[in-house]
Amino acid sequence: MLEEMLRERNLPAVFTGEQTWETRRVELLEMLCREEYGFLPPLPQSMQFEILETNERYCAGKATYQKIRLQMTFPTGEFAFPFYAVIPNKPGKHPFFVHINFRDNVPDRYMPTEEICDNGFAVFSFCYRDVTSDDGDFSTGLAGVLACDPAKDCGKIALWAYAASRVMDYAQTLSCLDFTRAAVAGHSRLGKTALLAGALDTRFTAAFSNESGCSGAALSRGGNEKRETVGHICGQFPFWFCRRYQQYAGAEDTLPFDQHFLLACMAPRRVYVASAAADLWADPVSEYLSCVAAGKVYRQLGLSGFVCPDRLPQVGDVFAAGRIGYHLRAGTHYFSRADWLHFVEFLKI
Ligand code: GCU
Repeated sequence: MLEEMLRERNLPAVFTGEQTWETRRVELLEMLCREEYGFLPPLPQSMQFEILETNERYCAGKATYQKIRLQMTFPTGEFAFPFYAVIPNKPGKHPFFVHINFRDNVPDRYMPTEEICDNGFAVFSFCYRDVTSDDGDFSTGLAGVLACDPAKDCGKIALWAYAASRVMDYAQTLSCLDFTRAAVAGHSRLGKTALLAGALDTRFTAAFSNESGCSGAALSRGGNEKRETVGHICGQFPFWFCRRYQQYAGAEDTLPFDQHFLLACMAPRRVYVASAAADLWADPVSEYLSCVAAGKVYRQLGLSGFVCPDRLPQVGDVFAAGRIGYHLRAGTHYFSRADWLHFVEFLKI
């Protein structure tokens, strides 16, 4: 059944096996950056981290909370943004998430820090707007300092992904973390961002996308009638992408890739896609089929990819046996505790 559904989507081939996967993966990333997100800026010349606040007795003394200022120096100037760290006080190496968040609250309705810590995980988070605004203004924030020109450089998603990697640079200065379970996570537009950050930065051993939908986990070819299309997204949010992506608005069939390429770029690392049944705009079926298609690359590499039955998902399904995980929960567009707890379970494996 799933094979037939994939055939109907008429997807371009990710990996024919003619080259090594390492070589092909570089080509895929090149293509995704060139045609969709734009290329990430070069590394800063230097970085500084300043601890602004510390609370060692956070969550009844279970964790330490810190607010940190990350400053980057570029040839064109300096840029700083704040982020937050919540790290369990228990001794040992903690697996962790870098969460690209909508807000800078800790905890936040999209980030249940206490539950995350109770599971032994650390979490680093930043508010995406502290990096660069969520609009077509490229003259302020990180975009301004880097003099980003959206006509030839990257869009906003790439800048947020870049910031997630800078938070990872900070994480690497700590000795209390387990870098074999180092994840990046986000919801919706920030789920798209988490997938891009994970695809490009192999220090992330897993990427978690929550209802990222169009230009995130969901296939762009075909889908339900209420879904967001490349045409919609390019019309409303052109600044998330590089200029070249516009040519595919209403012409999805001419894309030289589809979004399962982005998931496959995580291989052999792990990736998890979460859908909500009533979130038709993000198109759960197209997110699921994207996992099925990406799973084939893992299988070609001799790895367990996406392990699922030969049918569409039902509400409550969790498929977490392979290197690609998926769940479909009830309800609408939201980053819930249930989503986080499934993420935590997957990262524990
Ligand atoms: C809009 C947009 C989506 C995006 C979502 C969000 O609905 O069309 O692509 O994922 O906002 O970020 O919440």
